[in-house]
Amino acid sequence: MADKPRLWITRRLSDATLERAQRDYDTVINHEDTPGTAQDLIAASAEFDAIIPCHSEHFSAEVAAQLDPRLKIIANHSVGVDHCDLPALEARGITVTNTPDVLSDATAELAMLLMLGAARNAVAGDRIVRTGAWDFWSPSFMVGKQVTGARLGIIGMGRVGRAFAAKARGFDMDIHYYNRSELSTEAAQGATYHSTVESLLGVADFLSLHCPATPETTGLMNAERFALLPDGAVMVNSARGALVDEAALTAALDSGKLAAAGLDCFQTEPGGNPALAKYDNIFMLPHIGSATTRTRDAMGFRALDNLDAFFAGKTPGDKLV
Ligand code: DGY
Repeated sequence: MADKPRLWITRRLSDATLERAQRDYDTVINHEDTPGTAQDLIAASAEFDAIIPCHSEHFSAEVAAQLDPRLKIIANHSVGVDHCDLPALEARGITVTNTPDVLSDATAELAMLLMLGAARNAVAGDRIVRTGAWDFWSPSFMVGKQVTGARLGIIGMGRVGRAFAAKARGFDMDIHYYNRSELSTEAAQGATYHSTVESLLGVADFLSLHCPATPETTGLMNAERFALLPDGAVMVNSARGALVDEAALTAALDSGKLAAAGLDCFQTEPGGNPALAKYDNIFMLPHIGSATTRTRDAMGFRALDNLDAFFAGKTPGDKLV
């Protein structure tokens, strides 16, 4: 329909999202589900008023500079926006939105799975049963680290960090956190604030990362910081791969400083890091933190809510620039 804004959806979003998008917009969907390249994004900007991309489409400063003025809004289907150069897009007058809140529980749930799986030898245990190698039992067999009642350090107490803390309270964990600013007593719910990452690391028998990838947080967990953890700590990363120096991670596992790690994101995605594959004490998943049916519908609808507001002449609820 010529009078409806033209929308390009870069990936195969949930059926409910695609149905609503096709009803309300002149929509083209990339049913191939392949990530849009820089050239795809630049070409699309001349044909579409709006794009719903995922974190797999990179709107770098270079891409932003080449976008056609037809493109008015990028309504991300993600909470993280490290794939978008926001100042460069703002300079081009393009509105950018994300999908906060709706994926906090799903991501926190996955972080809990990673923490439990890493602590209790899920990878090695699964393999032993699956390959028929389970031929004995012993009290010293596959002894892991107990989560219940343990000390937990959380870096980043935004929405996902707080949702993770809520789940950790169900395991009676002693929760400590680092955040750019201290939470109110009500929001902290008994969690102890540390004003530096270094102070937090000193008490983090379990550590979970929940901060965005920014120039300041890239390489946050490096060799110096791993060294500050208590011996035999477990680290979980369900946020962004850029936060962890993977060479420093494997060195910490080799030395025993880290007992185990749970990772849903990697420095290189997709694909991950082949050097990690030999570690049975890394529980790895392929960036599926928000991958539940309910959450994917909610993310798609949130992106469309932002578009609806924009094309109704209002400020989208999740406008970043
Ligand atoms: C997000 O929304 O940032 C998740 O990582 C999925 O893209």
